[in-house]
Amino acid sequence: MNTIQKIKGFQDLISSEADTYTFIEETARSTFGRYGFQEIRIPILEKTELFARSIGGETDIVQKEMYTFPDRKGRSLTLRPEATAGVVRAYIENRLYAQDPVSKWFTCGPMFRYERPQKGRQRQFHQVNCELFGTGAPQADAEVILMLWTFLRELGLEKLTIELNTLGCPDCRGNYHQALKAFLSQAGDEDLCPDCQRRKTVNPLRVLDCKVPSCRDKVADAPRTIDHVCQDCREHFTTVQSLLDGLSVPYVLNDRLVRGLDYYQRTTFEVVSADIGSQSSVAGGGRYDGLVQALGGPDVPGIGFACGLERLAMILGQVRSKDLDFFLAVIDASALTRGQIIGQHLRDLGFSGLVSFEPKSLKSQLRQANKQQARHCLILGQEELESGTVMLKDMQTGDQSAVSQENLETTLTLPWRQQDRSF
Ligand code: HAM
Repeated sequence: MNTIQKIKGFQDLISSEADTYTFIEETARSTFGRYGFQEIRIPILEKTELFARSIGGETDIVQKEMYTFPDRKGRSLTLRPEATAGVVRAYIENRLYAQDPVSKWFTCGPMFRYERPQKGRQRQFHQVNCELFGTGAPQADAEVILMLWTFLRELGLEKLTIELNTLGCPDCRGNYHQALKAFLSQAGDEDLCPDCQRRKTVNPLRVLDCKVPSCRDKVADAPRTIDHVCQDCREHFTTVQSLLDGLSVPYVLNDRLVRGLDYYQRTTFEVVSADIGSQSSVAGGGRYDGLVQALGGPDVPGIGFACGLERLAMILGQVRSKDLDFFLAVIDASALTRGQIIGQHLRDLGFSGLVSFEPKSLKSQLRQANKQQARHCLILGQEELESGTVMLKDMQTGDQSAVSQENLETTLTLPWRQQDRSF
């Protein structure tokens, strides 16, 4: 019979792979928590309209990449391709703006985009995502980028580059669009892909983001946003840069960085890695001051970013998994119950370990203890049962000695309980 296989672009994350994701999420929670970010968990499924209205109808995400389907009553639903739209919806729907003028939200979980799967690009992928609402101050831009940088450093990642750009605001963006349209109007049919032929008039910014090589070549000489933004946007961007300089956050300017979502204005940024091939962006974000209002909320500015866990995990490699404190090898059927009682007692005290379910030979159980990377093997047979002891074997040194069942936890506590056991 045929076995059922997972869907293309979806992954099983097994054991140490899952540990790496947990490690990233826990590091994110701890770092972002220190900056006052609170966790918010939002649905994976939303009304399609939410994404169409926020991410933008001309983006690749909305045009080609969404998992959209009707529910049983014919309503169009979409598996979230990103988290910002959902967080903004929740922010408005739960009137979170009425609690604090400035609020900071963190979420993590799976996102879905129907892209061509390749190294670092999946159809179900995972993000940690932060959103800061309620201030348009450049200090907020700098703090968000500083926090992202701190998070990546805390993961131990250093060979990364922050790219920074400004997209201007609705007041000045028109100027830039005009200049870009004029530039693109000179492009012949052979210079731009069919999508960009259409985009060059409806949403010219998206041409800058196109991955088709001929389009990339064509836009190499396109006008730069910074040359067309208004005085306020220019000052905002200059301040962000000097704040980052003052905070010793390194960055490079990239005037082609327009991001693949339409809601951005002013500051945009990405973090790229030279080590993971063509899908090099590990994080991306920016300011989206008009979005809350565009989705029916008050006029509250916002800024945020998301990091892709698949790409972070590729750079990180495997993190060391947690070892087990003990493997309790029962070598006589009469000791099985006592083994479970001792095992439970140790687990109640916070030790981690396995207790054998069957009285197998000592040799095979020691092999298992080794395979499970248990630090100690506790051996329990008829003899130990009678003397109220267990045989404690240190799996690293091979030393073994009989210890009283009563004193087990104090013996187990030393010396490795004092070592760093974090993974
Ligand atoms: P984004 O640039 O579309 O931004 O995605 C952020 C990150 O998610 C990327 O840098 C990449 O690491 C990861 N990513 C995206 N697509 C895939 C994929 N198919 N497979 C693996 N990883 C992927 C956003 O999603 C915005 N919502 C970020 C944001 C938050 N802006 C403001 N607030």
